[in-house]
Amino acid sequence: MPDLVDINEDGWFRPGFRGATTPPGFLDCKYTAKWLKQGMSKSKLRVGVLTGGGDCPGLNAVIRAIVKTGHTEHNMDVVGFLDGYEGLVENRFKEVGVRDVSGILTQGGTILGTSNRADPFRFPVLQDDDYVYLDRSSQAVRNFEALGLDALIVIGGDGTMAASAGMMQKGIKIVGVPKTIDNDLEGRDVTFGFDSAMTTATEAIDKILSTAQSHHRVMIVEVMGRYAGWLALYSGMAGGGDIILMPEFPYDITAVCEAVKERNAKGKNFSIVVVGEGASAIGGDMVVQKRIANSPDQIRLGGISHRVAAQIEGLTNIECRVTILGHLLRGGQPTPFDRLLATRFGVEAAHMVARGQFGQLVGLRGTEMSSAPIEEVAGKQRKVTPDNPVLRNAMSLGISLGHPIDVPFEEFYAKPGCP
Ligand code: F6P
Repeated sequence: MPDLVDINEDGWFRPGFRGATTPPGFLDCKYTAKWLKQGMSKSKLRVGVLTGGGDCPGLNAVIRAIVKTGHTEHNMDVVGFLDGYEGLVENRFKEVGVRDVSGILTQGGTILGTSNRADPFRFPVLQDDDYVYLDRSSQAVRNFEALGLDALIVIGGDGTMAASAGMMQKGIKIVGVPKTIDNDLEGRDVTFGFDSAMTTATEAIDKILSTAQSHHRVMIVEVMGRYAGWLALYSGMAGGGDIILMPEFPYDITAVCEAVKERNAKGKNFSIVVVGEGASAIGGDMVVQKRIANSPDQIRLGGISHRVAAQIEGLTNIECRVTILGHLLRGGQPTPFDRLLATRFGVEAAHMVARGQFGQLVGLRGTEMSSAPIEEVAGKQRKVTPDNPVLRNAMSLGISLGHPIDVPFEEFYAKPGCP
């Protein structure tokens, strides 16, 4: 057994010899022994990676961690599919080596591109100016096999995981990595991207506060999050919002106006309302901004803040202004928290492939890495529940959640028409 092994740039290793100084890239035998003890094969692994669904800060950090861990510890080649499952169906890919991921830790977006319209089982194809939906999953499997891939790491949200569950049924070995600014993936405590989006939203609320104070206005700040109120709740709390409206708890507009008037009566003649894009009034509908015909979830929400503003202005005569943060929340650099989380997820995903632990979603429970079966969490959304501790803290602070202050929260939301 030689003293040293040399890990080449391409991931293969060969015997080396200890010199006066240790050349870069040389690892000692203890390391190799640990590797073999973990049951990790020396034979070359070829792994596909794709990013699916809406982008979020931290995707590049995951890709980088997979490539670097694969290179350092698992003799792994990485093939990146472009634009999510679209790339796998259309056979668009690129080899991703260590040099390709240099410097991307802090970059927002994804170097692989993404798509939230690419379900291989319902793949949109334009025919005579109209989309028809075809099952292209077998083509995706053929492309995967032709590239000699052993496994696929899928970085995505609930929609991407639902498609992945189907691809697993077709024999593809998959490890999932949860991402989304919405933080709504079932079975996971936190997804990377959420902290960055929450930070951007909080910074925006901070800025809006000063102009709200100057003009004595009600400022309505709308945040993304789809059908879950995590972004609204967390950024509303962190930004010192006075009223927080979430999709899970339809609001009573009279109660919202009462909260505004009560603040004015106390001499606080401005209010900040943070509203999740999926919020609605009791008995009312969510505001749909547009429908995307060729997207698995066709609905795009947005614009509820205009409705809330018109209602508050109409009922209180206090001037309102609206800011919709929209895609701003998905852009920019990941926060240090998200960089670390995304990196940990990427490292773990590479290890899981090497261990042959497929069909699982990487994740965090508390502070520990833990995995959950993709099939159990696919297509499910995690919502804010009435017993959520942060929601309870909001109530203790006297933040209005859109329910009348004299009716207990649970009792109010037990009424017909409420969830
Ligand atoms: O799921 C992430 C998300 O940003 C949601 O918060 C939002 O509703 C949706 O994606 C917007 O999608 P698109 O990028 O297609 O407009």
